Amino acid sequence: MIKHNFDELINRKGTECKKWDTYADDVIPMWIADTDFKCPQPVIDAMVKRAEHGIYGYPVNDKNFEEAIVNWQKKRFGWKIESEWVEYTPAVIPAIVYAIYAFTNPGDNIVIQMPAYHPFHAIIPNNGRHILGNNLILQEDGSYEIDFENLESLLSQKRTTMFLLCSPHNPTGKCFTREELNKISELCLKHNVFVVSDEIHSDIIYKGSKHIPFGSLSQEAADNCVVCVNPSKTFNIAGVRTGAAVIPNRRNHDLFYAPLENLKAYGRTIFGTLPIEISYNECDYYADQLLEYLEGNLEYLKKFLAEKIPKIKIGHPQATYLIWLNCKELNMEPAKLQQFFMEEAKVAMNEGSTFGTGGAGFMRMNIACPRARLVKALNQIEKSVNML
Ligand SMILES: Cc1ncc(COP(=O)(O)O)c(C=O)c1O
Repeated sequence: MIKHNFDELINRKGTECKKWDTYADDVIPMWIADTDFKCPQPVIDAMVKRAEHGIYGYPVNDKNFEEAIVNWQKKRFGWKIESEWVEYTPAVIPAIVYAIYAFTNPGDNIVIQMPAYHPFHAIIPNNGRHILGNNLILQEDGSYEIDFENLESLLSQKRTTMFLLCSPHNPTGKCFTREELNKISELCLKHNVFVVSDEIHSDIIYKGSKHIPFGSLSQEAADNCVVCVNPSKTFNIAGVRTGAAVIPNRRNHDLFYAPLENLKAYGRTIFGTLPIEISYNECDYYADQLLEYLEGNLEYLKKFLAEKIPKIKIGHPQATYLIWLNCKELNMEPAKLQQFFMEEAKVAMNEGSTFGTGGAGFMRMNIACPRARLVKALNQIEKSVNML
């Protein structure tokens, strides 16, 4: 079996890299959600081989892409899907936008759980729909619970037609239990609300939790959802801008496909589908080793904060490599907090209030980097906090 070296420090500067080419050279970037790890060797080999062919004409839509998605869902999550349920999309966010076009009307309400991944705050109003935020409730131990009572009152509003679920949840790192997902599904069915489940982070689930694809809950749930997937977070291939939607119900599938067809957005890219096929078909070893490495980073972070920076707290991250840090004891307004980490500690993270209600006082740290870089960043943060 190939052993991937996640400790390798790779220079990404000057590669048109959003994470590394946005801030000054002396800032350690731990913000946007891609990893600093090289992608799996079989992916690199396949891309090089395809590039060397030298002809990059129109691709035919064969079934290899769909089969790769079918494969992964079955072997990793036990969800048996058909290749006919899978639709190519240019990444996950465009897939969510197509779903908004397909299953809601202008002026409708779409429910999201706050705090929420920041593009959700844009794509809903930008397309003429309203956001209804259901606040996740922060518990004493740092975990989050769903306020089901409020959720139902939002779902029951006349113009509420969609629930946009982020499962597992970015930015809190919550992995929803089967019981919670079933309850969401029941409430959405009861109030005729369609579910879009963004499952882009589903491969990064820490010990003790389990990802359950929304469409695998029941026949009724499957008939009332679109599940959006992308191996981009796991295998570090977000730049190829390709993803997929799984739509189990044929009628829903046709509704979803209509905006893609109208926008002529179904054209695939040969360098988009290939890495997805190779990752999902041949690179389980990489996903397993990545998770193990991230567990190590997370343990290091927890111990470091507890022993050296107790004013910064993490709750119970169950999923994703985006760690939600409670910095309220630093007593700073959001703008000041961002400035402190960026200018004093020289570590770029996502400031919590950009995720909406419940985000102020938090910072989101991306720990998908070689351990040495995490150690350096934490030492810098410790030094700056001690100087306050
Ligand atoms: C929850 C979530 N959805 C979607 C995306 C973006 O996906 P894509 O690049 O496939 O549009 C991200 C990226 O960070 C994310 O965290």
